[in-house]
Formats: sequence, structure tokens, C-alpha cells
Amino acid sequence: MGLRQRLMARTYDRLMAGYERHAGPRRAALLGELEGRVVELGPGTGVNLGHLPKAVDWHGVEPSAPMREELRRRWAEQRGADPTDLEPRFVDLADGRIDLADDFADVVVATLVL
Ligand SMILES: C[S@@+](CC[C@H](N)C(=O)[O-])C[C@H]1O[C@@H](n2cnc3c(N)ncnc32)[C@H](O)[C@@H]1O
Repeated sequence: MGLRQRLMARTYDRLMAGYERHAGPRRAALLGELEGRVVELGPGTGVNLGHLPKAVDWHGVEPSAPMREELRRRWAEQRGADPTDLEPRFVDLADGRIDLADDFADVVVATLVL
């Protein structure tokens, strides 16, 4: 696990705090009414999680292990009280390809990724 990846994951939310004051309402408007199975590309530390309805079936494609750790921490803080929903689900990239069936997702989310 590279030092650079770890540093980025640990500092990302603080670095983005100013931007999030403006982006937060936009994220809420985009994500707040999603339903069904959501695949999020590059979720990073999970900044979108708090804007998604808790009922969505969330799957993240996040290649950075330190980002996944930060996201798990955030997930536990936000949802940890519900014992049926303790773990975020990640999908691995296989040779750069997302290993999911073509019709798997109802919605694909990508913010600040492409
Ligand atoms: C700038 S961050 C965006 C985080 C979050 N989506 C947001 O809106 O703040 C970009 C994220 O994309 C991830 N990423 C990089 N290459 C990727 C790839 N090929 N597929 C999916 N995610 C990738 C990075 O690890 C990082 O977590």
C-alpha cells in the first residue's frame, strides 16, 4: 500500500471541506432520490454515502485500499447502528474491467472521478 495513497485517503475530506460546502447541496440533489442497485465508481472516502437513501443497494468500485478503509469507517459511523447493514460491498476490478453483469446496476454514480 503506497504512502501517497494512504496520505490521500487520510487527508481527502479535510482537503475537500471548502469545496464540499458548495458541492454538498448539489450531491444531495443528484443522489437523494436514487433507488435500487447503485454502483458507485471511485467512491473514495464515501462522501456521497450520506446523501444516498439508506435503502439503496450500494456497491463501490474503489481500487485504493486506504480509500476503502476510510469509507468503511464512515459507513460504520453513519449506519453502524443497524446490525443488518454493517458492511459496504466493494466490487474488484479484474484487469481494469468491472466484474459485474451488464444489467447489474439500476444507477451508476461517478462524482469527481472521470
Ligand atoms: C477525486 S476522488 C473522488 C472521490 C468521490 N467520488 C468524490 O466525489 O469526492 C477519485 C477516486 O477515484 C478512484 N479511482 C481511481 N482510479 C479508478 C478506477 N479505475 N476505477 C474506479 N475508481 C478509481 C480513486 O482511488 C479515488 O478514490
